[in-house]
Amino acid sequence: MINVAVFISGTGSNLKNLIEVSLQNKKKFKIQLIISDKKKAIGIKYSKIYNIEKKIFKFDKKKIEEKKILKFINKKNIKLICLAGFMKILSSYFIRNFKGKIINIHPSLLPKYKGLNTHKRVIKNKEKFSGCTVHFVNSKLDSGKIILQKKVRVFKSDTYKKLAKKVLKQEHLLYPKALKKVCSSL
Ligand code: GRF
Repeated sequence: MINVAVFISGTGSNLKNLIEVSLQNKKKFKIQLIISDKKKAIGIKYSKIYNIEKKIFKFDKKKIEEKKILKFINKKNIKLICLAGFMKILSSYFIRNFKGKIINIHPSLLPKYKGLNTHKRVIKNKEKFSGCTVHFVNSKLDSGKIILQKKVRVFKSDTYKKLAKKVLKQEHLLYPKALKKVCSSL
């Protein structure tokens, strides 16, 4: 069993989904901890609903906070970190100290459309395809080794909101698959 911490900043639909999958696949991984940089992140409610410990780190003094997180997750025996809509950029210090054990989901077909507002840019550029990517986190934004990707067709009638919904649905299938893959190689 691999103990996993999920880092969030917002809605937490990927977090909820990973928790649900972990409950069905008891032996592979367990979502042991929820970490957020925002006290009011909607996704924090899943801590109470599923009885999972949560911890808020404000990230105002990044280096100090990151040291505290590393200490805390080691104490909790966390072996893998899943970033799921976590809006802070982790420093190379943090990444080095948890090397090869941090993964992220990004709503585009990386290496295309790194960064924010992916769906808006995809629509503006009249792309025929978009999708989502689960990748390892390295010190360059959205640039680590790709674990899995899923392609989604973009129709002319798609607005960026429609596309976001369509991609998020695929994220909920892709993230658990990628997580299981990483767990079996740990
Ligand atoms: C997802 O689209 C994810 O790819 C991106 O942020 C969004 C988070 O959604 N990194 P949620 O908070 O999991 O609902």
